Amino acid sequence: MNSKVKNPSLAPQGRLKIEWAESRMPVLMKLREEAKKTLPLKGMRIAGCLHVTKETAVLIRTLKAAGAEVSWSGCNPLSTQDDISAAIADEGVSIFAWHGMSKEEFYWAIEQTLAFKPTLTLDDGADLIFTVHSKFPQMAKDIIGGTEETTTGVHRLRAMAQDGALKYPVIAINDAETKWDFDNVYGTGQSSIDGIVRATNVLLGGKVFVVAGYGHCGRGCAMRAKGMGARVVVTEITPTHALKAVLEGFEVMTMDQAAKIGDIFITATGMKDIIVQRHFESMKDGAIVSNTGHYDCELNLDDLKKASKNIREVRPNNEEYTLKNGKKVYVLAQGRLVNLAAAEGHPSEVMDMSFANQFLGMVRLAKEGKSMKPIVHDIDPAQDQEIASIKLAALGMSIDKLTPEQAKYANDYSAGT
Ligand code: ADE
Repeated sequence: MNSKVKNPSLAPQGRLKIEWAESRMPVLMKLREEAKKTLPLKGMRIAGCLHVTKETAVLIRTLKAAGAEVSWSGCNPLSTQDDISAAIADEGVSIFAWHGMSKEEFYWAIEQTLAFKPTLTLDDGADLIFTVHSKFPQMAKDIIGGTEETTTGVHRLRAMAQDGALKYPVIAINDAETKWDFDNVYGTGQSSIDGIVRATNVLLGGKVFVVAGYGHCGRGCAMRAKGMGARVVVTEITPTHALKAVLEGFEVMTMDQAAKIGDIFITATGMKDIIVQRHFESMKDGAIVSNTGHYDCELNLDDLKKASKNIREVRPNNEEYTLKNGKKVYVLAQGRLVNLAAAEGHPSEVMDMSFANQFLGMVRLAKEGKSMKPIVHDIDPAQDQEIASIKLAALGMSIDKLTPEQAKYANDYSAGT
């Protein structure tokens, strides 16, 4: 197998971490056991472009157990965990991923996975699909379909489909309730705080913690920061989101106002230029800025560089910018996903459900993809309930069932007050 990883000797350490994740991913493990018997992905060649973490390794093992051949690259230059990529390579997967790759190496790695002539693509951020469409459009006719993991990727693919530019069907994994309502909220909330703490070890209690964007990810960050005693401030552009934040007890203001009072900032908007030069210049001395959105454009670091006279690394994933006005601003993980670059990403328990959706998405495409339209498809809502039921059972929880009378009542429009 053709692979490129940083240090193959890290494989045993990676395997231990993967085992740890497997013990916390009961849904995916159950799907794996079933798939070993039925081999629903037999004959499929899957190219994946998604963060190389222990949880992703559990997904890769499951895809292989279901009969697929797999080739992989990371979907962010800073998120690959080198011990995991070594373990995956050691298990016979073609993987091209190491921590700290350059932009050129990042796209080179994606192209290596395409050399494998995939029949299915699995994305987080849509870089693999974009590469097929922009550089290798002739490959699209042999690709049955793809899946997309994240909010930003789905948004862009829907825009592409609307323009008639999408050449094969894509399933929006992000839009599964068992993905966005868990991974985006609780996963992002915990792992982003984890990244900030690992990179700084600052006390969150009493700090003014500014969250830009009160979508699902921002809500998770705000909720967890509040739980650790921070005073949370939210900035927004959508009135309904802002109002939800107010009713949750958070202060809402513009970034121009928040920049002056924040101690710690996190962007979770999916939009560029959330924090720009005038914001950096008005920040308090010692302010800490980070991003948890998929792309690294939310903090305008070119602006910050222009406003600075000195930059030095003061801790891993923590760079001190000394501004020309004398104040210091600390940027975590170079403005890339702080939860994956400075910590380990979302915990296994939530990735279990996200990746169960990925796995079932691949199985559906293998079965039905050839007859699906080249647009963005939602997952079947029954899949959400199946995944949630397996998860509940694994947690040892039981729920009630409607009685026949209740089921009848639910659809009875003849009964009023
Ligand atoms: N995205 C966020 N957390 C992740 C994780 N642990 N593994 C893969 N992708 C992720």
